[in-house]
Amino acid sequence: MSAWDLVQQYSQTALSQLPAPAQQLVQNPIAQKAAGALIGLGLLRTINNSLTQWTLNNWTSAEPWSNSRELVLLTGGCSGIGKQVMQDLSGKGVRVVILDIAEPNFKLPANVAFYRADITKSANIAEVAKLIRADHGEPTVLINNAGVGNDGTILEETEAKIRQSFEVNTISHFLMVREFLPAMVRANHGHVITVASMASFVALAEMADYCCTKVSALAFHETLRQELNHYYKAPRVRTSIVHPYWVRTPMIKVLTDWEKEFGQPIMTVDKVANAIVKQVLSQNSGQVLVPGHLAIARIVRALPTWLQEHVRSKESAKFKYMREQQERAERAERDLQKA
Ligand SMILES: NC(=O)c1ccc[n+]([C@@H]2O[C@H](COP(=O)([O-])OP(=O)(O)OC[C@H]3O[C@@H](n4cnc5c(N)ncnc54)[C@H](O)[C@@H]3O)[C@@H](O)[C@H]2O)c1
Repeated sequence: MSAWDLVQQYSQTALSQLPAPAQQLVQNPIAQKAAGALIGLGLLRTINNSLTQWTLNNWTSAEPWSNSRELVLLTGGCSGIGKQVMQDLSGKGVRVVILDIAEPNFKLPANVAFYRADITKSANIAEVAKLIRADHGEPTVLINNAGVGNDGTILEETEAKIRQSFEVNTISHFLMVREFLPAMVRANHGHVITVASMASFVALAEMADYCCTKVSALAFHETLRQELNHYYKAPRVRTSIVHPYWVRTPMIKVLTDWEKEFGQPIMTVDKVANAIVKQVLSQNSGQVLVPGHLAIARIVRALPTWLQEHVRSKESAKFKYMREQQERAERAERDLQKA
């Protein structure tokens, strides 16, 4: 008896054990076609994911994570997402060095060190890099997480705020990588992780500078991969980018204070931190969107223009509505004080 006959015999026996309605469903030609299509789609997805992973990793497999070998350098680790990433990594015994312009207002775990630095100043980064190398060795993972976000339209925002957004959210990535990538390249080992945003894909009103910087962060990440492959010949240095949707942190206080009027789901930091930590420990390159079901955001710019405009408009209208509610509340407050 051939293997195929055996499979058929086994399927028939298994089928006969099912209740009658289930047997009818399994034998229904439409249900069979739908199941075939689903299996086909699942298979395509698996092949697509594997191709992405192998291509991004230059067809080299990931090395196992080693707490004694790896040192994570994390910018903006004193607040929000960065703080949670630091806590989660340190909980797993990973050595972490935080660079932040703000002092920590919490007790540092034993395997975490803090250095005060303004990551928009290359001289400051170089100064602190010397201390880090002397105290801990060369960082093998760099997480460019620190960021700022301002509200206000293009005409309202001050030049200083606009410049600050670009300095912190984009230019600092160049400065940090220029300082810490050469050692990774020499060792052909390391990982640069960029914390971007869904704003890399969808540009909204009152977020012009922020969206510009997060589109830039994506372009920076893509270019870095190309240079590592073609110029620096370091195929084992990994690059990842993480695009979170709204996250409950001090950065978006203006939105969390008006959450009801804003009307958008806001994630807790642990969800994003989980995704970042998983990416760090995997030692694989990748592009991660959080939450995963919003991965569809990547295709917004490939949609017909009228549909793109519809998506942006729908989201911008929420900001406008929230702004109107804020202004109404402020007027009411002023009237109350006058009376
Ligand atoms: N909160 C969100 O909704 C959200 C959504 C998507 C992406 N992000 C991104 O996540 C990252 C972390 O943001 P967060 O929400 O945790 O913000 P946060 O304000 O809680 O933390 C940002 C940290 O960066 C530090 N920082 C700012 N300027 C610095 C500088 N010049 N030098 C050194 N450190 C500096 C701050 O002191 C702070 O500790 C940012 O890149 C942000 O754009 C946030």
